[in-house]
Amino acid sequence: MRTQVAIIGAGPAGLLLGHLLRAEGIDVIIVERASSDYVLGRIRAGVLERTTTDLMDRLGLGARMHAEGLPHDGFHLADGERLIRIDIAALTGRQVMVYGQTEVTRDLMAAAPERGLQIIYDAANVALHDVESDRPSLTFEKDGAVRRIEADFLCGCDGFHGPSRQAVPPSVASAYEKVYPFGWLGILADVPPCTHELIYANHARGFALASMRSETRSRYYVQVALDEKIEDWPDDRLWDELAVRLGPEAAANLTRGPSLEKSIAPLRSFVFEPMRHGRLLLAGDSAHIVPPTGAKGLNLAASDVHYLSEALIGHYLRNDRDGIAGYSRKALARVWKSERFSWQLTRLMHRFPDGDAFDRRMQVAELDYIASSTAAQTSIAENYVGLPL
Ligand code: FAD
Ligand code: DHB
Repeated sequence: MRTQVAIIGAGPAGLLLGHLLRAEGIDVIIVERASSDYVLGRIRAGVLERTTTDLMDRLGLGARMHAEGLPHDGFHLADGERLIRIDIAALTGRQVMVYGQTEVTRDLMAAAPERGLQIIYDAANVALHDVESDRPSLTFEKDGAVRRIEADFLCGCDGFHGPSRQAVPPSVASAYEKVYPFGWLGILADVPPCTHELIYANHARGFALASMRSETRSRYYVQVALDEKIEDWPDDRLWDELAVRLGPEAAANLTRGPSLEKSIAPLRSFVFEPMRHGRLLLAGDSAHIVPPTGAKGLNLAASDVHYLSEALIGHYLRNDRDGIAGYSRKALARVWKSERFSWQLTRLMHRFPDGDAFDRRMQVAELDYIASSTAAQTSIAENYVGLPL
């Protein structure tokens, strides 16, 4: 098989990129290791920046998002009984959209056939070849046969554990990493949310987040130690813990119900530089990870894809070679700012096992400052709604 752009991974980054290129008539094949059902079964991000919703609109795929998504004007930081509202709409003139990653993925998947976006699911042992040459290719196994796709460019949208990043020789790359000493246990349940706006809570027993997917479906998280297991957290224990950590007002409105999904995710900050090597271009979690505090992971994947699609469209439609050459620098400038915000909000809102009384006083002082300063709230708000592209 031959195509212009071969994309590894059909998560949000791969699907968005595929659609943006197809919209300009560029030939694309996406190769995905998992099945479509498996991809749709993963419960991940829930809050979309304008950058991300704009991409869906540009593709003409935003109708369900606007009909079913929940635009939010603000969110809360809680510390014990104190609740600080960050009025993002008043401070930035922008909203965020609560619409799950699963639904974004579903909308992009559903539109693929009619737009000539070919997605090969269940592709095993994907391997990248000759990325430093003008004729890169990838191979994979499907239905017992080995297949090869030759392409002008390979785009690594295969998440943190995919093979694309490994195809960049360590001698030309740098990786920056911070692993946090805790994870997030998430629960999805068909119960009305306890609050109209999200609450990020710093509690003596650890962080908690109240979020949602709709007026009838809630998503909650609690900080857990890295050695804790799902089996340690029957639903009742989790609801009890949320009621304590989220504070009295939220607890009074907390509706309990059976979990539809429960999983533990580790927290990590990670950046891989450069995001281009030869004709291999990385986007999304394959190149960087943020801790989920602040909901930047999916949105950062979308902004990478914005820059990458511009570079590839420039290459094919305007014979512009500078876009590809400049992609990594452009994307990384925004990546590092999101890394900073996610790291900072994680430090502010979690209890670290090795944190001492001084660290806690720093958190209280920072929350005091945020509560009393419009400048501080504006800084948080403009990062939360998404920095300009
Ligand atoms: P992914 O969504 O990981 O997609 C990569 C795709 O590549 C997958 O479909 C994978 O199956 C495929 N792939 C992997 N290996 C191969 C291979 N060898 N061959 C072919 N295909 C392959 N962000 C938030 O903002 N809020 C959250 O609450 C949140 N929760 C998260 C929970 C978990 C458990 C994880 C892992 C991430 C979470 N994130 C969250 C981050 C957010 O979901 C990611 O940033 C986002 O999914 C990135 O999109 P992506 O397309 O780059 O990567
Ligand atoms: C959700 C996840 C986040 O990491 C976040 O910051 C906000 C919301 C969610 O899954 O709803």
